[in-house]
Amino acid sequence: MADLDDIRDGDNFGLNTPADTSAFYLKGLNNASWGLKNRMSRIFNRKSGRTVMLAFDHGFLMGPTSGLERIDLNIAPLAAHADCLMGCRGMIRTSIPADNTKPICLRTDTGTTILTEMNHNVLISEEEAVSMNVSAMAAMLSIGDADTEASTIANFSRLVDIGNKYSIPVMGVTAVGKDMARDSRYFGLASRVCAENGASIVKTYYTEGFENVVAACPVPIVIAGGKKLPELEALELCYKAIQCGASGVDMGRNVFQSEAPLAMMTAVKEVVHNDATPAEAFDVYNTVKNEA
Ligand code: 5RP
Repeated sequence: MADLDDIRDGDNFGLNTPADTSAFYLKGLNNASWGLKNRMSRIFNRKSGRTVMLAFDHGFLMGPTSGLERIDLNIAPLAAHADCLMGCRGMIRTSIPADNTKPICLRTDTGTTILTEMNHNVLISEEEAVSMNVSAMAAMLSIGDADTEASTIANFSRLVDIGNKYSIPVMGVTAVGKDMARDSRYFGLASRVCAENGASIVKTYYTEGFENVVAACPVPIVIAGGKKLPELEALELCYKAIQCGASGVDMGRNVFQSEAPLAMMTAVKEVVHNDATPAEAFDVYNTVKNEA
């Protein structure tokens, strides 16, 4: 029986405080659902509006590539230092402890490996993403590749339909089509195709003229690191992307193949969240490396 004796009428309606009508802090997502915004807020730092995602999905194409031989040993210890973890369901389930509290961006397409023809992919089931409590789902689009462009865009579109149903943001990952020039025209087109098809995040590559790629993409862009570079060069790459308006990185090899992965992750965070210059961040890299 409800207690009806002492019902107190509300008397604190904050009449001098108007309701907050400010916009959501990430671009292009003001009209997204509450759940989608809430998940994006787990991935993107509220203060900087940026993110450092750690990508370790490479094995589904390449097998146990250098730095990813043992996800439990190479990646799990870095998890606490990343803003988000991007990987495939098998490796996350087997090698990332379930008490991990970092948001997961689940690689959701699969199909072919470097041994045959890449990107003939299908989507894994949506129940998997929901059951793993993911904060985002990622799929590749191979724009400009005659064999796989249509099927990867179709996959991506279907993934956005699923994401919208469950309020899970979808990240479009732009593969570089075989014969495509790696320039701002190409990456601008590929990124825009992701956004036009409903991406909440776009992952692409830095190039000269990146400010135009960012400007023409209405949702946050993160960059992949690409092949392993000397640490200072990788930090310069991050810096240039951030200064052109990128919202962070989803970086793999330049972190886990570094001589000092934790130091590199710490330095990348300085660039992404604190606008550190490459030289400042490299000092951080060396300091953390030498402390270890
Ligand atoms: C391509 C991917 C990879 O996760 C990503 O590009 C790899 O990151 P990096 O280039 O920094 O090693 O999405 O399938």
